[in-house]
Amino acid sequence: MAIWGVIPAAGFGERMQSSIPKQYLELHGQSLLMRSINTLLANPAIDGVVVVLAENDTGFSDLPDSIRSRLITATGGDSRAESVAAGVRSVQHEAGDDAWALVHDAARPLLSSRDLLNLISQVSASDCCGGLLAAPVQDTLKRADHTGTVEVTVDRSDLWQAQTPQMFRVGALLSALARAKRDGVTVTDEASALEYVGEKPRVVPAMDPNFKLTRPSDLALATAWLASTNKPTTSSD
Ligand code: CTP
Ligand code: MG
Repeated sequence: MAIWGVIPAAGFGERMQSSIPKQYLELHGQSLLMRSINTLLANPAIDGVVVVLAENDTGFSDLPDSIRSRLITATGGDSRAESVAAGVRSVQHEAGDDAWALVHDAARPLLSSRDLLNLISQVSASDCCGGLLAAPVQDTLKRADHTGTVEVTVDRSDLWQAQTPQMFRVGALLSALARAKRDGVTVTDEASALEYVGEKPRVVPAMDPNFKLTRPSDLALATAWLASTNKPTTSSD
C-alpha cells in the first residue's frame, strides 16, 4: 500500500520570534524544512511527499531544483489541521483513500531514520487505524488549581507525549478532520481527530530526540544536539 509523506509548513512560528518563518531557520546550515523533507525522501518506503506552504510563502523557491522536483506542494490554511487536510487531499488525488498519509511537522527536524522506519513497520504490521511516534512522559506530573496549589500527583505510567510523524489512511483521516471541523472541535494532531471519531491509534515509542522547535531556546538545544552527534568517532567508540 502506498505511503505518502505530508509536511505541514504553512505556519509562521510566532513563538520563535524570528523575522522569517521558523521552517526556514537553519540548523547547521540546513533549514528545518529541508531536514524534514530529506528524512522523508531518504526512506524508500515513502512513495511521494507533499509540502504544505503558506499562501504567501517565499522560501520554498530557494530550495534546490533537484529536491523541489521530487515534491508536490499544497496551500495551507489558518490552522495546522486545515493545512494538514489540504496536504492529505493532494495525496488523495495522487494515491486514493486507501493510501497511508504520514504527517510530519516541518518543525521537528531531528526525526531519525530508525524512528521513522519503526513507525512505518509497526503501523503497517498492525490491524489498527494507524499510529504515531510518541515518548513516555519522564517527569513527575502535578495537577494544580488556578491559584497554583497542587491538587494531586498524576500517575504517568500510561502517559505519552505525542510527536509526529503520525500515520493514518487518507480517507479515514480526511473524514475525521472534516467531522471535527464541522462539530467545532479543535484537534491539535491527527490522532486526536481519529480518536474523536472513536478510533484507537497506536503509540510507537520514539528512541531518538524528536522535539518540536517552538521557542528560540529549542533552536539552541537542537544545534547543540546535532553538534554532539556529528562528533568524529574515536577508536574507543
Ligand atoms: N502549520 C501549518 N499551518 C498552520 C499552522 C502551523 O502548516 N496554519 C505547521 C507549522 O509550519 C509547523 C507545524 O504545523 O511545521 C507545527 O506547528 P507549530 O510548531 O505550532 O508551528 P507554528 O504554528 O508555525 O508556530 P506558532 O504556533 O509558534 O506560531
Ligand atoms: Mg502553531
